[in-house]
Amino acid sequence: MAHTPRPLQARRTTGPLRGTIRVPGDKSISHRALMFAGLAVGETRIQGLLEGEDVLCTAAAMRALGAEVIQDAPGQWRVAGRGIGGLVEPDNVLDMGNSGTAARLLCGILASHDLFAVMTGDASLRRRPMRRVTDPLAACGARFQSRAGGRLPLAIQGAQDALPLEYTLPVASAQVKSALLLAGLNAPGWTRITEPEPTRDHSENMLRHFGAEVVVEHQGHGRLISLMGQPELVAADVLVPGDPSSAAFPLVAALLVPGSSVTVQGVGLNPLRTGLFATLREMGADLAITNERLEGGEPVGDVTATYTGLRGADVAPDRAPSMIDEYPVLAVAAACATGTTRMRGLQELRVKESDRLSATAALLSINGARLEIEGDDLLVHGGNRVPPGGGLVETHMDHRIAMSALVLGLATEQPVRVDDSAFIDTSFPGFAALMRGLGADLS
Ligand code: S3P
Repeated sequence: MAHTPRPLQARRTTGPLRGTIRVPGDKSISHRALMFAGLAVGETRIQGLLEGEDVLCTAAAMRALGAEVIQDAPGQWRVAGRGIGGLVEPDNVLDMGNSGTAARLLCGILASHDLFAVMTGDASLRRRPMRRVTDPLAACGARFQSRAGGRLPLAIQGAQDALPLEYTLPVASAQVKSALLLAGLNAPGWTRITEPEPTRDHSENMLRHFGAEVVVEHQGHGRLISLMGQPELVAADVLVPGDPSSAAFPLVAALLVPGSSVTVQGVGLNPLRTGLFATLREMGADLAITNERLEGGEPVGDVTATYTGLRGADVAPDRAPSMIDEYPVLAVAAACATGTTRMRGLQELRVKESDRLSATAALLSINGARLEIEGDDLLVHGGNRVPPGGGLVETHMDHRIAMSALVLGLATEQPVRVDDSAFIDTSFPGFAALMRGLGADLS
Protein backbone atom coordinates (compact mmCIF):
# COMPACT_ATOMS: atom_id res chain seq x y z
CA MET A 1 0.00 0.00 0.00
CA ALA A 2 1.33 3.48 -0.84
CA HIS A 3 2.47 5.40 2.23
CA THR A 4 1.02 8.90 2.72
CA PRO A 5 3.49 11.11 4.63
CA ARG A 6 2.07 13.05 7.58
CA PRO A 7 4.03 16.29 8.09
CA LEU A 8 3.89 17.76 11.59
CA GLN A 9 5.14 20.98 13.15
CA ALA A 10 6.12 21.84 16.73
CA ARG A 11 5.99 25.45 17.88
CA ARG A 12 7.14 27.11 21.08
CA THR A 13 4.28 27.95 23.41
CA THR A 14 4.16 30.92 25.73
CA GLY A 15 3.43 28.71 28.74
CA PRO A 16 5.17 25.75 30.36
CA LEU A 17 4.38 22.05 29.87
CA ARG A 18 2.51 20.60 32.81
CA GLY A 19 0.66 17.43 33.68
CA THR A 20 0.71 13.80 34.73
CA ILE A 21 0.53 11.18 32.01
CA ARG A 22 1.19 7.55 31.18
CA VAL A 23 3.02 6.42 28.07
CA PRO A 24 2.26 3.27 26.05
CA GLY A 25 3.68 -0.11 27.05
CA ASP A 26 7.34 -1.02 26.64
CA LYS A 27 8.10 -2.07 23.08
CA SER A 28 10.83 -4.60 23.93
CA ILE A 29 8.72 -6.29 26.60
CA SER A 30 5.61 -6.29 24.39
CA HIS A 31 7.36 -8.14 21.55
CA ARG A 32 8.79 -10.67 23.96
CA ALA A 33 5.49 -11.21 25.78
CA LEU A 34 3.75 -12.18 22.53
CA MET A 35 6.60 -14.43 21.40
CA PHE A 36 7.21 -16.24 24.70
CA ALA A 37 3.46 -16.64 25.27
CA GLY A 38 3.19 -18.14 21.78
CA LEU A 39 5.84 -20.71 22.75
CA ALA A 40 4.29 -21.53 26.12
CA VAL A 41 1.66 -24.12 26.93
CA GLY A 42 -1.62 -22.60 28.08
CA GLU A 43 -3.14 -19.15 27.96
CA THR A 44 -1.18 -16.01 28.86
CA ARG A 45 -2.93 -12.74 29.57
CA ILE A 46 -0.93 -9.60 28.74
CA GLN A 47 -1.88 -6.27 30.21
CA GLY A 48 -0.57 -2.94 28.94
CA LEU A 49 0.68 -4.32 25.62
CA LEU A 50 1.99 -1.63 23.29
CA GLU A 51 -0.40 -1.47 20.37
CA GLY A 52 2.12 0.22 18.10
CA GLU A 53 2.59 -1.02 14.56
CA ASP A 54 5.86 -2.82 15.39
CA VAL A 55 4.21 -4.98 18.03
CA LEU A 56 1.13 -5.60 15.89
CA CYS A 57 3.50 -7.13 13.30
CA THR A 58 4.74 -9.55 15.96
CA ALA A 59 1.14 -10.39 16.90
CA ALA A 60 0.33 -11.12 13.25
CA ALA A 61 3.46 -13.25 12.83
CA MET A 62 2.72 -15.33 15.93
CA ARG A 63 -0.82 -15.91 14.60
CA ALA A 64 0.60 -16.98 11.24
CA LEU A 65 2.76 -19.48 13.16
CA GLY A 66 -0.28 -21.02 14.81
CA ALA A 67 -0.61 -19.22 18.16
CA GLU A 68 -4.00 -17.82 19.08
CA VAL A 69 -3.55 -14.09 19.71
CA ILE A 70 -6.65 -12.16 20.74
CA GLN A 71 -7.22 -8.56 21.78
CA ASP A 72 -9.86 -8.48 24.55
CA ALA A 73 -9.79 -4.70 25.12
CA PRO A 74 -7.32 -1.87 24.48
CA GLY A 75 -3.98 -3.03 25.94
CA GLN A 76 -5.42 -6.36 27.10
CA TRP A 77 -4.45 -9.39 25.09
CA ARG A 78 -4.65 -13.16 25.39
CA VAL A 79 -2.29 -15.65 23.77
CA ALA A 80 -2.83 -19.42 23.62
CA GLY A 81 0.62 -20.84 22.91
CA ARG A 82 1.73 -23.86 20.85
CA GLY A 83 4.50 -25.11 23.14
CA ILE A 84 8.19 -25.15 22.19
CA GLY A 85 8.68 -26.84 18.83
CA GLY A 86 4.94 -26.63 18.17
CA LEU A 87 4.75 -23.72 15.75
CA VAL A 88 3.28 -24.40 12.30
CA GLU A 89 4.61 -23.38 8.90
CA PRO A 90 3.22 -19.98 7.88
CA ASP A 91 1.38 -20.09 4.56
CA ASN A 92 2.50 -16.62 3.51
CA VAL A 93 5.40 -14.19 3.85
CA LEU A 94 5.84 -12.75 7.37
CA ASP A 95 5.88 -8.94 7.20
CA MET A 96 7.76 -7.43 10.14
CA GLY A 97 7.06 -3.83 9.09
CA ASN A 98 9.56 -1.35 10.59
CA SER A 99 10.69 -3.59 13.48
CA GLY A 100 14.24 -4.89 13.82
CA THR A 101 13.37 -6.48 17.16
CA ALA A 102 10.46 -8.43 15.67
CA ALA A 103 12.53 -9.60 12.69
CA ARG A 104 15.65 -10.62 14.61
CA LEU A 105 13.93 -12.32 17.53
CA LEU A 106 11.67 -14.22 15.17
CA CYS A 107 14.72 -15.43 13.22
CA GLY A 108 15.84 -17.05 16.47
CA ILE A 109 12.51 -18.77 17.02
CA LEU A 110 12.30 -20.00 13.42
CA ALA A 111 15.92 -21.23 13.37
CA SER A 112 15.07 -24.13 15.69
CA HIS A 113 11.65 -24.99 14.24
CA ASP A 114 11.67 -27.47 11.34
CA LEU A 115 9.68 -25.30 8.96
CA PHE A 116 10.16 -22.94 6.04
CA ALA A 117 9.37 -19.24 6.31
CA VAL A 118 10.04 -16.06 4.38
CA MET A 119 10.36 -12.74 6.14
CA THR A 120 10.27 -9.19 4.83
CA GLY A 121 9.69 -5.67 6.13
CA ASP A 122 9.37 -2.04 5.07
CA ALA A 123 12.07 -0.13 3.18
CA SER A 124 13.83 0.82 6.44
CA LEU A 125 13.94 -2.76 7.77
CA ARG A 126 14.99 -4.13 4.37
CA ARG A 127 18.13 -1.99 4.63
CA ARG A 128 19.15 -3.29 8.07
CA PRO A 129 21.81 -5.97 8.66
CA MET A 130 20.49 -9.43 9.50
CA ARG A 131 23.76 -11.38 9.32
CA ARG A 132 24.42 -10.47 12.93
CA VAL A 133 21.70 -13.01 13.75
CA THR A 134 21.71 -15.37 10.77
CA ASP A 135 25.47 -16.10 10.90
CA PRO A 136 25.47 -17.35 14.51
CA LEU A 137 22.05 -19.01 14.13
CA ALA A 138 23.33 -21.10 11.19
CA ALA A 139 25.46 -23.03 13.71
CA CYS A 140 22.29 -24.59 15.17
CA GLY A 141 21.55 -26.15 11.76
CA ALA A 142 19.23 -23.55 10.25
CA ARG A 143 19.71 -22.35 6.67
CA PHE A 144 19.15 -18.75 5.56
CA GLN A 145 19.04 -17.13 2.14
CA SER A 146 18.85 -13.39 1.89
CA ARG A 147 19.51 -10.52 -0.44
CA ALA A 148 23.06 -9.21 -0.81
CA GLY A 149 24.54 -7.98 2.45
CA GLY A 150 22.22 -10.21 4.50
CA ARG A 151 19.24 -7.94 3.90
CA LEU A 152 15.56 -8.90 3.96
CA PRO A 153 13.63 -10.52 2.36
CA LEU A 154 15.05 -13.60 4.00
CA ALA A 155 14.15 -17.26 3.48
CA ILE A 156 14.59 -19.49 6.52
CA GLN A 157 14.68 -23.26 6.72
CA GLY A 158 14.72 -24.09 10.41
CA ALA A 159 16.80 -26.96 11.78
CA GLN A 160 15.23 -30.41 12.12
CA ASP A 161 17.18 -31.20 15.27
CA ALA A 162 18.68 -27.93 16.40
CA LEU A 163 22.01 -27.87 18.20
CA PRO A 164 22.61 -25.63 21.22
CA LEU A 165 24.74 -22.55 20.53
CA GLU A 166 27.82 -21.15 22.22
CA TYR A 167 28.57 -17.64 21.06
CA THR A 168 30.29 -14.44 22.11
CA LEU A 169 28.52 -11.36 20.82
CA PRO A 170 30.82 -9.13 18.74
CA VAL A 171 28.52 -6.12 19.36
CA ALA A 172 26.44 -5.19 22.39
CA SER A 173 22.98 -6.18 21.14
CA ALA A 174 20.01 -7.41 23.11
CA GLN A 175 18.36 -8.40 19.86
CA VAL A 176 21.16 -10.76 18.88
CA LYS A 177 21.40 -12.17 22.42
CA SER A 178 17.64 -12.75 22.49
CA ALA A 179 17.54 -14.36 19.04
CA LEU A 180 20.15 -16.92 20.12
CA LEU A 181 18.39 -17.63 23.42
CA LEU A 182 15.10 -18.13 21.57
CA ALA A 183 16.78 -20.61 19.21
CA GLY A 184 18.23 -22.38 22.24
CA LEU A 185 14.75 -23.00 23.60
CA ASN A 186 14.28 -25.83 21.11
CA ALA A 187 17.80 -27.32 21.29
CA PRO A 188 18.85 -29.96 23.86
CA GLY A 189 21.34 -28.92 26.55
CA TRP A 190 22.86 -25.57 27.45
CA THR A 191 22.93 -22.60 25.09
CA ARG A 192 25.62 -20.19 26.28
CA ILE A 193 25.88 -16.58 25.17
CA THR A 194 28.60 -14.20 26.31
CA GLU A 195 27.96 -10.49 26.00
CA PRO A 196 30.94 -8.16 26.38
CA GLU A 197 28.71 -5.45 27.83
CA PRO A 198 25.39 -5.95 29.61
CA THR A 199 22.36 -5.21 27.42
CA ARG A 200 18.67 -5.11 28.31
CA ASP A 201 17.76 -8.37 30.03
CA HIS A 202 14.03 -8.55 29.40
CA SER A 203 14.42 -11.90 27.60
CA GLU A 204 16.28 -13.47 30.50
CA ASN A 205 13.71 -12.14 33.01
CA MET A 206 10.74 -13.25 30.95
CA LEU A 207 12.17 -16.69 30.15
CA ARG A 208 12.45 -17.31 33.89
CA HIS A 209 8.92 -15.95 34.38
CA PHE A 210 7.66 -18.60 31.92
CA GLY A 211 9.58 -21.35 33.73
CA ALA A 212 12.89 -21.72 31.83
CA GLU A 213 16.20 -22.22 33.62
CA VAL A 214 18.45 -19.23 32.93
CA VAL A 215 21.76 -18.69 34.73
CA VAL A 216 23.54 -15.33 34.52
CA GLU A 217 27.20 -15.09 35.55
CA HIS A 218 29.11 -11.81 35.65
CA GLN A 219 32.38 -11.93 33.72
CA GLY A 220 34.43 -8.77 34.12
CA HIS A 221 32.28 -6.04 32.67
CA GLY A 222 30.14 -8.50 30.68
CA ARG A 223 27.90 -11.50 31.32
CA LEU A 224 27.61 -15.19 30.45
CA ILE A 225 23.99 -16.21 29.99
CA SER A 226 23.18 -19.92 29.99
CA LEU A 227 19.79 -21.34 29.05
CA MET A 228 18.81 -25.00 29.49
CA GLY A 229 17.10 -26.05 26.28
CA GLN A 230 13.73 -27.68 25.78
CA PRO A 231 12.08 -26.51 28.98
CA GLU A 232 8.33 -26.64 29.20
CA LEU A 233 7.36 -23.00 29.03
CA VAL A 234 4.15 -22.51 30.97
CA ALA A 235 1.73 -19.63 30.34
CA ALA A 236 2.29 -16.78 32.83
CA ASP A 237 0.51 -13.43 32.88
CA VAL A 238 2.56 -10.37 31.90
CA LEU A 239 2.12 -6.78 33.05
CA VAL A 240 3.91 -4.45 30.61
CA PRO A 241 5.39 -1.27 32.16
CA GLY A 242 5.38 2.10 30.41
CA ASP A 243 8.23 2.38 27.92
CA PRO A 244 11.14 4.46 29.31
CA SER A 245 12.23 5.09 25.71
CA SER A 246 8.84 6.74 25.05
CA ALA A 247 8.75 8.54 28.42
CA ALA A 248 12.03 10.14 27.35
CA PHE A 249 10.24 12.51 24.94
CA PRO A 250 7.79 14.28 27.29
CA LEU A 251 10.41 14.26 30.08
CA VAL A 252 13.11 15.89 27.94
CA ALA A 253 10.50 18.34 26.61
CA ALA A 254 9.82 19.40 30.22
CA LEU A 255 13.56 19.94 30.75
CA LEU A 256 13.73 22.25 27.73
CA VAL A 257 10.62 24.43 28.16
CA PRO A 258 11.09 26.95 31.01
CA GLY A 259 8.76 26.53 33.98
CA SER A 260 7.65 23.01 33.04
CA SER A 261 6.99 20.03 35.27
CA VAL A 262 5.80 16.72 33.82
CA THR A 263 5.23 13.40 35.57
CA VAL A 264 5.12 10.10 33.70
CA GLN A 265 3.59 7.35 35.80
CA GLY A 266 4.38 3.65 35.67
CA VAL A 267 7.65 3.92 33.73
CA GLY A 268 9.82 0.79 33.44
CA LEU A 269 13.05 1.39 35.40
CA ASN A 270 15.07 -1.70 34.52
CA PRO A 271 18.64 -0.50 35.24
CA LEU A 272 19.72 -1.68 31.78
CA ARG A 273 17.29 0.85 30.25
CA THR A 274 17.76 3.96 32.36
CA GLY A 275 21.04 5.36 31.02
CA LEU A 276 19.26 8.49 29.77
CA PHE A 277 18.03 9.39 33.24
CA ALA A 278 21.56 9.00 34.67
CA THR A 279 23.02 11.13 31.87
CA LEU A 280 20.40 13.87 32.20
CA ARG A 281 21.12 14.04 35.93
CA GLU A 282 24.82 14.46 35.14
CA MET A 283 23.74 17.38 32.94
CA GLY A 284 21.99 18.97 35.92
CA ALA A 285 18.42 17.80 35.26
CA ASP A 286 15.91 17.70 38.08
CA LEU A 287 14.46 14.20 37.72
CA ALA A 288 12.61 12.73 40.67
CA ILE A 289 11.57 9.09 40.90
CA THR A 290 8.75 8.22 43.28
CA ASN A 291 6.48 5.30 43.98
CA GLU A 292 9.15 2.73 43.01
CA ARG A 293 7.78 -0.79 42.92
CA LEU A 294 8.12 -4.16 41.21
CA GLU A 295 5.42 -4.96 38.66
CA GLY A 296 5.48 -8.27 36.80
CA GLY A 297 9.14 -8.76 37.75
CA GLU A 298 10.33 -5.39 36.38
CA PRO A 299 11.07 -2.26 38.46
CA VAL A 300 8.59 0.54 37.78
CA GLY A 301 8.17 4.10 39.11
CA ASP A 302 6.79 7.57 38.45
CA VAL A 303 9.29 10.00 36.94
CA THR A 304 8.93 13.77 37.29
CA ALA A 305 11.03 16.15 35.20
CA THR A 306 11.16 19.79 36.31
CA TYR A 307 12.81 22.49 34.22
CA THR A 308 16.20 23.57 35.51
CA GLY A 309 18.46 24.29 32.55
CA LEU A 310 21.12 21.78 31.47
CA ARG A 311 24.88 21.76 31.03
CA GLY A 312 27.02 19.64 28.69
CA ALA A 313 28.47 16.28 29.74
CA ASP A 314 30.96 13.68 28.56
CA VAL A 315 28.99 10.46 27.94
CA ALA A 316 31.16 7.35 28.08
CA PRO A 317 30.70 4.57 25.47
CA ASP A 318 29.71 2.04 28.13
CA ARG A 319 26.52 4.08 28.70
CA ALA A 320 25.38 3.23 25.16
CA PRO A 321 23.62 -0.12 25.71
CA SER A 322 21.39 1.30 28.46
CA MET A 323 20.30 4.33 26.41
CA ILE A 324 20.86 3.21 22.83
CA ASP A 325 17.48 4.47 21.58
CA GLU A 326 17.70 7.74 23.49
CA TYR A 327 20.68 9.41 21.78
CA PRO A 328 18.61 11.50 19.32
CA VAL A 329 16.59 13.09 22.12
CA LEU A 330 19.71 13.40 24.31
CA ALA A 331 21.41 15.24 21.44
CA VAL A 332 18.41 17.60 21.32
CA ALA A 333 18.79 18.22 25.07
CA ALA A 334 22.54 18.79 24.56
CA ALA A 335 21.85 21.39 21.86
CA CYS A 336 19.78 23.35 24.39
CA ALA A 337 22.35 22.97 27.20
CA THR A 338 25.30 25.21 27.96
CA GLY A 339 28.71 23.82 26.97
CA THR A 340 29.70 20.82 24.89
CA THR A 341 28.30 17.30 25.18
CA ARG A 342 30.41 14.49 23.78
CA MET A 343 28.54 11.23 23.20
CA ARG A 344 31.10 8.51 22.67
CA GLY A 345 30.97 5.18 20.89
CA LEU A 346 27.79 5.57 18.81
CA GLN A 347 28.66 3.14 16.01
CA GLU A 348 25.50 1.06 16.58
CA LEU A 349 23.34 4.10 15.82
CA ARG A 350 24.28 3.72 12.17
CA VAL A 351 22.21 0.52 11.84
CA LYS A 352 18.95 1.54 13.54
CA GLU A 353 15.65 2.38 11.81
CA SER A 354 17.76 4.98 9.97
CA ASP A 355 21.44 5.88 10.16
CA ARG A 356 20.59 7.64 13.40
CA LEU A 357 23.99 9.23 13.81
CA SER A 358 23.65 11.10 10.49
CA ALA A 359 19.92 11.72 10.96
CA THR A 360 20.48 13.20 14.44
CA ALA A 361 23.30 15.40 13.16
CA ALA A 362 21.13 16.59 10.25
CA LEU A 363 18.16 17.24 12.57
CA LEU A 364 20.31 19.51 14.73
CA SER A 365 22.26 21.32 12.06
CA ILE A 366 19.20 22.22 9.97
CA ASN A 367 17.86 23.88 13.10
CA GLY A 368 21.00 25.91 13.67
CA ALA A 369 22.76 23.82 16.34
CA ARG A 370 26.55 23.42 16.21
CA LEU A 371 27.91 19.90 16.19
CA GLU A 372 30.55 17.56 14.81
CA ILE A 373 30.85 13.85 14.21
CA GLU A 374 34.35 12.63 15.14
CA GLY A 375 34.65 8.95 14.23
CA ASP A 376 31.89 7.30 16.26
CA ASP A 377 31.47 10.25 18.64
CA LEU A 378 28.87 12.99 18.38
CA LEU A 379 29.82 16.39 19.81
CA VAL A 380 27.07 18.92 20.34
CA HIS A 381 28.03 22.45 21.27
CA GLY A 382 25.37 24.17 23.34
CA GLY A 383 25.37 27.95 23.67
CA ASN A 384 23.73 30.41 25.95
CA ARG A 385 20.53 30.18 23.94
CA VAL A 386 18.62 27.29 22.42
CA PRO A 387 19.22 26.86 18.66
CA PRO A 388 16.99 29.04 16.46
CA GLY A 389 14.98 26.18 14.88
CA GLY A 390 13.08 26.79 11.65
CA GLY A 391 14.25 23.58 9.93
CA LEU A 392 12.35 20.91 8.02
CA VAL A 393 13.65 17.58 9.37
CA GLU A 394 13.83 14.46 7.23
CA THR A 395 12.74 11.58 9.44
CA HIS A 396 13.97 8.69 7.20
CA MET A 397 11.13 6.37 8.37
CA ASP A 398 12.48 6.71 11.92
CA HIS A 399 9.98 7.30 14.75
CA ARG A 400 12.60 8.48 17.23
CA ILE A 401 14.06 11.06 14.84
CA ALA A 402 10.55 12.42 14.30
CA MET A 403 9.74 12.70 18.02
CA SER A 404 13.17 14.17 18.87
CA ALA A 405 12.76 16.88 16.23
CA LEU A 406 9.31 17.76 17.54
CA VAL A 407 10.64 18.02 21.11
CA LEU A 408 13.30 20.45 19.87
CA GLY A 409 10.61 22.56 18.20
CA LEU A 410 8.87 23.09 21.54
CA ALA A 411 11.92 25.04 22.74
CA THR A 412 13.20 26.88 19.63
CA GLU A 413 12.17 30.35 18.55
CA GLN A 414 11.16 29.21 15.06
CA PRO A 415 8.92 26.13 14.59
CA VAL A 416 10.47 22.77 13.68
CA ARG A 417 8.73 20.69 11.04
CA VAL A 418 9.12 16.99 10.27
CA ASP A 419 8.44 15.65 6.77
CA ASP A 420 6.61 12.57 8.08
CA SER A 421 5.30 11.81 11.56
CA ALA A 422 3.51 8.60 10.52
CA PHE A 423 6.26 6.29 11.82
CA ILE A 424 5.71 7.57 15.37
CA ASP A 425 2.87 5.02 15.45
CA THR A 426 5.42 2.18 15.41
CA SER A 427 6.31 2.84 19.05
CA PHE A 428 4.23 5.70 20.46
CA PRO A 429 0.66 5.81 19.15
CA GLY A 430 -1.08 8.91 20.54
CA PHE A 431 2.19 10.86 20.95
CA ALA A 432 0.89 14.13 19.50
CA ALA A 433 -2.36 14.08 21.50
CA LEU A 434 -0.51 13.28 24.73
CA MET A 435 1.98 16.10 24.17
CA ARG A 436 -0.84 18.52 23.34
CA GLY A 437 -2.48 17.54 26.64
CA LEU A 438 0.68 18.81 28.38
CA GLY A 439 0.39 22.14 26.57
CA ALA A 440 2.58 21.45 23.52
CA ASP A 441 1.72 23.17 20.23
CA LEU A 442 1.85 20.41 17.59
CA SER A 443 -0.04 20.99 14.37
C1 S3P B 1 15.94 -3.86 21.45
C2 S3P B 1 17.30 -3.74 21.48
C3 S3P B 1 18.03 -2.59 20.92
C4 S3P B 1 17.12 -1.38 20.70
C5 S3P B 1 15.81 -1.77 20.07
C6 S3P B 1 15.08 -2.78 20.93
C7 S3P B 1 15.31 -5.07 22.01
O1 S3P B 1 18.57 -2.98 19.68
O2 S3P B 1 17.77 -0.42 19.88
O3 S3P B 1 14.99 -0.62 19.88
O4 S3P B 1 14.09 -5.09 22.23
O5 S3P B 1 16.03 -6.05 22.23
P1 S3P B 1 20.01 -3.74 19.57
O6 S3P B 1 19.92 -4.99 20.30
O7 S3P B 1 20.21 -3.95 18.11
O8 S3P B 1 20.99 -2.77 20.15
